[in-house]
Amino acid sequence: MSHPVASPSAAAGQPPASRGLRASLRNVEEFKANPLAFYMRLTQDGEPGYRQVAFFDLFGPNYLVNDADEAGRILTSAIDGGSYTKDGLRFFEVMRRLLRRGLFTAEGDDHLQQRRILQPSFQPKAMEELAEGIVRAAAETGARWSSQVGATLDVEGEMRNLALDLLAELLIGGDLRDDVHEFGALNEEMEDRLIEAMGSPFLIPAWIPTRGNRRFAEAAARIRAVVARLIARRRAGLEAARAPDVVLTRLLADELRTGAMGERQFQDEITTLLVGGYKSTALALTWTWYLLATHPDASRRLAAEISEQLGQRPPAFADVRRLRYTRRVVQEALRLYPPVWVVNRVAVRPDQVGDVTIPRGAIIAISPYTLHRHPAHWSRPHDFHPDHFAEGVTRPAHAYLPFGAGRHKCIGNHYAMAAAVLALATLAGRYAFEPPTHPVVANTRAFTTPDPGMRMRLTTAPTRI
Ligand code: HEM
Repeated sequence: MSHPVASPSAAAGQPPASRGLRASLRNVEEFKANPLAFYMRLTQDGEPGYRQVAFFDLFGPNYLVNDADEAGRILTSAIDGGSYTKDGLRFFEVMRRLLRRGLFTAEGDDHLQQRRILQPSFQPKAMEELAEGIVRAAAETGARWSSQVGATLDVEGEMRNLALDLLAELLIGGDLRDDVHEFGALNEEMEDRLIEAMGSPFLIPAWIPTRGNRRFAEAAARIRAVVARLIARRRAGLEAARAPDVVLTRLLADELRTGAMGERQFQDEITTLLVGGYKSTALALTWTWYLLATHPDASRRLAAEISEQLGQRPPAFADVRRLRYTRRVVQEALRLYPPVWVVNRVAVRPDQVGDVTIPRGAIIAISPYTLHRHPAHWSRPHDFHPDHFAEGVTRPAHAYLPFGAGRHKCIGNHYAMAAAVLALATLAGRYAFEPPTHPVVANTRAFTTPDPGMRMRLTTAPTRI
């Protein structure tokens, strides 16, 4: 038996989006209620199939591009002489108040230079040695759960904690886990401030001391202080030759040799990696458990694969490749509930997308959420069907964009996949969840988030029953 996958229903009977203040106000209201439902409606409005490009007025021209090839072309356009940029978007302007010019918020040559410094630490090869820490962190969660079978858990909270432990093992070092958790708590507050700033009718310059601006600056300062402390501690360990081999240690050693970044930039990059890696990974795992709970057949098949491949031993890095179904489950969860629900860009010059002319300065929205449910590319667009990712199944290169594409493609993608597969392989052989007793809808905060949360009863994995 399988439950239908919950998705916000497209608001039926709405007239197509049009221009002007009234359209903007109506769109803002609908967008604020649920951006995913709003985008889904735009893709379907007035058309029997899916729209390639949908215009909507949100106090300025916006275009939802819901076509794999065009989305790919936009995201991979070259920066020099290219057509699209992050510069000029309110979201990145707000994020810069925290991250300044870290990798996520940098553009152009700055971005390229930083990417060259950071990229080597995130290659799949560099992940290999970190797998042990990932499995250890997941096993600790498993050990804690052993006394909680039968209890209803806040699965999103559990996965937030696990994601922080995993990030500590990858980036900072497991010995500084408490500080990473301190970052996690502050990040929640930061997210509230971000949403507040995004939701106001216009962005008040950061130097004007409104209540919102002050609260934002205070939250950012608290996060920076934690990150500065993490770096200082790791540096002290490095000097005493007792630092674990993690991304931060590697970057610090490079920085000592080259001085390529400087203290402030270094701090911004570490903050960026923590902010980029935390909730995205936590929510990917949260939605994965939800989909498994609501699809017992998949849950059984997953537990069987884990038992067949691993027996009683813990997974190792080489198993990420071998655990094919486990990987498909994660890929499919990222398809249905991509944590990053929209990737925005500004058109630097006019462009033609299909039969629509995009004016200079217009905002482009590429939503992995709508693209991943495009009926042209998925045999069962709204169902949880991990075999969408079975070998031999093909689709256009950019029909699946959970990690974005082009020069800004997620730098943590290999890590996130490896961490999710290894964590699932560690936990799903022993545990499963019962479906939530409350309806769950996908909505958004900074990332795609279950509304109203994800409370599920912990049980033992199907093969053990
Ligand atoms: C399932 C987990 C994750 C998802 C779904 C995800 C998704 C994304 C997406 C869609 C982008 C592109 C944004 C854009 O082009 O505007 C991105 C960028 C980025 N992500 Fe991730 N991410 C995940 C995990 C991570 C992790 C674990 C880290 C770090 C440890 C990370 C760090 C970053 C950074 C620094 C960028 C900016 C890259 C650049 O602009 O060059 N992400 N991520």
